[in-house]
Amino acid sequence: MEETKKEEEGEAVMEEVDPSEIDYVSYGGEHHLPLIMRLVDKELSEPYSIFTYRYFVYLWPQLSFLAFHKGNCIGTVVCKMGEHRNTFRGYIAMLVVIKSYRGKGIATELVTRSIQVMMESGCEEVTLEAEVSNKGALALYGRLGFIRAKRLFRYYLNGVDAFRLKLLFPRPEISSLLRMANNEDGYYHNNQQFEEGSSQVN
Ligand SMILES: CC(C)(COP(=O)(O)OP(=O)(O)OC[C@H]1O[C@@H](n2cnc3c(N)ncnc32)[C@H](O)[C@@H]1OP(=O)(O)O)[C@@H](O)C(=O)NCCC(=O)NCCS
Repeated sequence: MEETKKEEEGEAVMEEVDPSEIDYVSYGGEHHLPLIMRLVDKELSEPYSIFTYRYFVYLWPQLSFLAFHKGNCIGTVVCKMGEHRNTFRGYIAMLVVIKSYRGKGIATELVTRSIQVMMESGCEEVTLEAEVSNKGALALYGRLGFIRAKRLFRYYLNGVDAFRLKLLFPRPEISSLLRMANNEDGYYHNNQQFEEGSSQVN
């Protein structure tokens, strides 16, 4: 009885999970929506309406993923992407893994899948907000290379501040411009050295 209650709350005491038993799927339609809503409503402080969920999953289904173990949805990530101040950027809106499955790399796998699709779609950066007190999320994103770009005062409805986190992708066109600039620089310096050397001789 107690165990059933815990299972319903996603806190069942469980045996060691084999990572190969976790299935990751991208958003597959309306039947996934209640699964996402249930997890997010339970674990995130910010309340979202069904319109918010639909906005994300209808427009960017390829960026939302769900993790399943033995048929139960145990984690999810919800994202979007688009133009923002002349930058094409991805945005991670929600990320949740139920308590009893945490610390097994599931959130990392979910987020990495979304980021991969963002990168392939031409995003130059990825952003998100996290509560300044959310040590787990800050550590997870820090490990993935996100930096703290800004502190947002009383960002959440509960009055807590947020950090805006940002992951910058290397931009191929900038890299090649830098390479060209370096080469030209090298050419300039070499010539300059030669001329300076010549003038010394004179
Ligand atoms: C944050 C959350 C999604 C992490 O899920 P997870 O599956 O446990 O994360 P992972 O196992 O992929 O963790 C990867 C790394 O993140 C860091 N990390 C994750 N949770 C952590 C915690 N509670 N404390 C410290 N570091 C933590 C660790 O560096 C970890 O690597 P390690 O286990 O090798 O040390 C999960 O705790 C959660 O759902 N929290 C509630 C909702 C939430 O806060 N979402 C984020 C909103 S921005």
